[in-house]
Amino acid sequence: MSKIRVIIDTDPGIDDALALILALASPELSVEAITTVAGNVTVAQAVRNASLLLEVIDPHSRPPVAKGATRPMTRPLRTAEGYHGEDGLGELSRFKTEAGVLRYPEPQQRLASQSAPTLMTELISGAPGEMVVICIGPLTNLAMAIQAAPTEMAKVKEIVIMGGAIQAPGNVTPGAEFNLYTDPEAARLVFTSGLPITLVPLDVTQRVMLRAELIEAVVRHIGSRVTQFVRDVTERLFGIEQERAGCAAIPLHDPLAVGVVIDPSLVVRRPLHVDVETGAGSAQGMTIADRRQIREEWKQPPNLQVCMEVDAGRFMALFLERICRPLT
Ligand code: RIB
Ligand code: CA
Repeated sequence: MSKIRVIIDTDPGIDDALALILALASPELSVEAITTVAGNVTVAQAVRNASLLLEVIDPHSRPPVAKGATRPMTRPLRTAEGYHGEDGLGELSRFKTEAGVLRYPEPQQRLASQSAPTLMTELISGAPGEMVVICIGPLTNLAMAIQAAPTEMAKVKEIVIMGGAIQAPGNVTPGAEFNLYTDPEAARLVFTSGLPITLVPLDVTQRVMLRAELIEAVVRHIGSRVTQFVRDVTERLFGIEQERAGCAAIPLHDPLAVGVVIDPSLVVRRPLHVDVETGAGSAQGMTIADRRQIREEWKQPPNLQVCMEVDAGRFMALFLERICRPLT
């Protein structure tokens, strides 16, 4: 069976790092590019973190890393180092080898010559109907690519977006999810583009929770470079969640967006019309889905396929199986 060709647009970020590991460890996928965007961290830090992850995973074929938007389309950037750590990866400089050197030294950064939107557009137009874009950060790069090259971007096979909150509360404000809150103008441009979009909202990502004790057990039994990295990159955040919520567990937001591409049967999709609030008030970045039980002709036509159900057990099994795979 031929591989699914994917571009991953990311703001690494702890769960982004777990999503990239899942994608690079999954034989169903061919990761053709990693495009970085400002969000959890600055885009310079996102490039550094993607490069560090590639040095840790050291995949057979290393995808190009492209630098993208330094800030949202119209708003100032508000990053999330409080949650993801000063380095965006759980403050990895705390970890040293037995020899006392950094377990995760500064990576070599080999940047693609193209910007993230340009590389995305070139790959999509060069393989009509083949490329899947998995967006696990703010949608600024994707919006810029659609704005600059709508005809080329229309050749995309599918866009899978981790973002939004349909019935679930928000995570960055009571009503909004972080990726869409950070750049609501970009999200609205993407949602009204007419492109084939699958949305993976908090409604399903908050049901796939990774627990600290599971990772500790995995590392004890399968102590690979990858499982050690998964433990190290999540250790600080498990501590924060233990303090904040009384449970050392974190939602696998971004890995589920990758999981949906690997195995679409993991989720149940529902066609919905979804808009994004672009005001500056407390509703900024909220997703408003038309779920009214009225005749279709009385509603705006659906613009997204929204994942509203997930087989959480099957996804967690897939995630664990993949991070435990021996590095080829
Ligand atoms: O709301 C969750 C999303 O925001 C994830 O992509 C996480 O990495 C942050 O970017
Ligand atoms: Ca992210």
